[in-house]
Amino acid sequence: MENTNEMKIIFDSRPENEGLARVAAAAFCTQLNTTLEEVADLKTAVSEAVTNCIIHAYEGQVQKIEIFCRREGQKLWVDVIDKGVGIRDVAKAMEPLFTTKPEKDRSGMGFTFMEAFMDEVEVESKVGCGTCVTMKKRIGRGYMNKEQEEKETAESYG
Ligand SMILES: Nc1ncnc2c1ncn2[C@@H]1O[C@H](COP(=O)(O)OP(=O)(O)OP(=O)(O)O)[C@@H](O)[C@H]1O
Ligand SMILES: [Mg+2]
Repeated sequence: MENTNEMKIIFDSRPENEGLARVAAAAFCTQLNTTLEEVADLKTAVSEAVTNCIIHAYEGQVQKIEIFCRREGQKLWVDVIDKGVGIRDVAKAMEPLFTTKPEKDRSGMGFTFMEAFMDEVEVESKVGCGTCVTMKKRIGRGYMNKEQEEKETAESYG
């Protein structure tokens, strides 16, 4: 299919790699004729998801984090995947202000930011196996005329 592209990166769950992940996702996204605001939103969302892998999934141990980005036309999907401890109750974990690490000064707002800055966020997780956070965003709204935007918005992600 035309206008498709994919990228997969795997890196160590070290805090310094959070910046690497943000920049890699942003670089992939800029192929979609983005606005600066969209790139900033994506960077924030990726940063929150990767930080969760480092802090919660692997609890400071160095393991692998995978990021899988794909696009179809102006639609962008980003999966952030770990093989860490997993999440027992995903619905609860996604509630604003819910955190299992209040003693580490976490505020429980990571998933809330991901949902605010992306169009959709889905979380699949299995205790003891790991977590996949899938974030979707339609890119380039800022450059579309009204007709294009309505057409794009009417289409489903599939
Ligand atoms: N990849 C993950 N693996 C295991 N548990 C996770 C993962 N991501 C999130 N969680 C759980 O979901 C909770 C909520 O995550 P969220 O990012 O919203 O808040 P937080 O990380 O606790 O705080 P903040 O992001 O504001 O620093 C976490 O406290 C943790 O228990
Ligand atoms: Mg978090």
